[in-house]
Amino acid sequence: MAQNRVPVTPKPLTVGPVAYFAEHCERCHGSRGRNLGKGFAKRYSEATLRKEVAEMAAGPGQAALEGIDLDAQVGLHWAIDSGRPFLAWTGRKGDQLSGEVLNAKSVWLVVGGRKRRADVHGDSWVIRIPNGMNLDSVSLVAGVKPQVILQPARRPFAFGR
Ligand code: HEC
Repeated sequence: MAQNRVPVTPKPLTVGPVAYFAEHCERCHGSRGRNLGKGFAKRYSEATLRKEVAEMAAGPGQAALEGIDLDAQVGLHWAIDSGRPFLAWTGRKGDQLSGEVLNAKSVWLVVGGRKRRADVHGDSWVIRIPNGMNLDSVSLVAGVKPQVILQPARRPFAFGR
C-alpha cells in the first residue's frame, strides 16, 4: 500500500548546543570542554555517553536535556573530543538562517552546486538563502578536511566524530 509522505516543516534547534555548554557546563569542564581530557568520549559507547550527558545536564548542569537537544549535545561532545567540526542550525527569520559552529573557521551554504560564504563571528554564523528557496534543496558545510554537512530538512545539526 502506498504511504503518503507527510510534509514536515524543517525546524531549527531551540537550544543552541554551544551556548548551552558554555552556560551550564564550562564552569567545571573549561572553555569548550578543554578540561574533559583528551579521548574522553572514545571510552564511551554512543548510549553511555548519551546517558552521562543526560545525567550531567539534569544534575550539576541544572538544565535537563531531552530528545533532539540531547542528541545535539552528545554530537557536540563527539566534536569536542575529536576536534572535528560541529555545526548547528538554531534560527530562521524569513530567508535568514543562523546557528553555531565549533572547530571550523568557515561555514558555507550550498545551493544547486553553488557555494555562498556565511558570516561567522566567534561561534555564530548567519546566511541569507536565495529568495523563496525551499530548505530541502540547501545544505550547510563547515570545515575543509574533514568537513561536515548539515541538511536543514533532515537534521538541524552535524558533527565530525
Ligand atoms: C559542578 C561541576 C560540574 C558541572 C556543572 C558539570 N559537570 Fe560534568 N563532570 C563533573 C565531574 C566531577 C565529573 C567526573 C565524575 C563523574 O563522571 O561523575 C564529570 C564528568 C563528566 C563527563 C564524563 C567525562 C569523562 O572523562 O568521562 C561528561 C561527558 C560530562 N561531565 C559532561 C557534562 C555536561 C554536558 C555538563 C553540562 C550540562 C556538565 N558535565 C556539567 C562535574 C561537573
